Amino acid sequence: MMAGDMRQVDAVIQRRLASDVAMIDKIAHYIISAGGKRIRPMLVLLFSSALGFNGPERFELAATVEFIHTATLLHDDVVDESALRRGRQTANALFGNAASVLVGDFVYSRAFQMMVSVNRMRVLEILADATNVIAEGEVLQLMNMHDPDLSVDDYLRVIRFKTAKLFEASARLGAVLSDASAEVEASCAAYGRALGTSFQLIDDLLDYEGATTELGKNVGDDLREGKPTLPLLLAMERGNSAERDLIRHAIEHGEVARLSEIVDIVRRTGAITATRDAARAEAEKAANCLAVLPVSAYREALLELCVRSVERSS
Ligand code: IPE
Ligand code: IPE
Ligand code: MG
Ligand code: MG
Repeated sequence: MMAGDMRQVDAVIQRRLASDVAMIDKIAHYIISAGGKRIRPMLVLLFSSALGFNGPERFELAATVEFIHTATLLHDDVVDESALRRGRQTANALFGNAASVLVGDFVYSRAFQMMVSVNRMRVLEILADATNVIAEGEVLQLMNMHDPDLSVDDYLRVIRFKTAKLFEASARLGAVLSDASAEVEASCAAYGRALGTSFQLIDDLLDYEGATTELGKNVGDDLREGKPTLPLLLAMERGNSAERDLIRHAIEHGEVARLSEIVDIVRRTGAITATRDAARAEAEKAANCLAVLPVSAYREALLELCVRSVERSS
């Protein structure tokens, strides 16, 4: 059902990625052609179709949110010193940090050119706010690095900002394009926020429980960086004092040498299960927001995304 629409989005992406600067062309195509799940553009399309809007602006905005996402990944992999993304070497590993950051800026600013072309002030407002909050989230996370005493609330704040905000904006754009009422728009936004939170909780879980081959990115990166994510926070809460000390030390020093021991603790203490439960609760919250939409295949697809976001392994 969405395949034809997603091909249209791809066409916009290809057309809008073009640059006469060879280095930009090469790197931007390198990361985009590796694919990705394209969840954020899907949200724009599903919400606008569910609410009866079928104009071409939906393809432009779907591509726009994928560009914003891609720009944050280019920057995120530099900051996280990650080597693998979408089953390929990261752009930073292949072309260097400087090129990645600068091409990330190109993709970001191209997204701004695209959102302006839609000629709606509300669209600009939503995406300007979202990109600003994502940047805040990444900086907050940087400040939380190597801090084993981070509270669960502060952790949740980071993931709401860095990940859920763009999901929220994508869903909201579908409502705004359709001239939905303020109430419907708020429900769409709440869906995006909850789904995005669920999605990042699972991303953080998969960094311990997942398989590099399926994820297309290296597991254990979060620990190497000393990122205090929910699986570790819960394992420290539930473990005995020796286990707690081991994890504290790993977060403080970004120690991966004992990763397999830590994975064992995370699993044994039930921290994996509890993280998945938290993700499921958010996904259910998202699903409940869909009640404001008329019954349709698009609404079903949005419901299906809630289930898949929790069960996914890639
Ligand atoms: C990766 O996002 C960054 C997170 C917010 C966890 P995705 O998992 O949507 O990445 P792609 O686009 O499918 O590669
Ligand atoms: C997601 O965080 C980054 C952004 C959404 C900006 P992660 O650092 O967990 O994402 P991955 O695991 O590298 O994809
Ligand atoms: Mg990362
Ligand atoms: Mg991650």
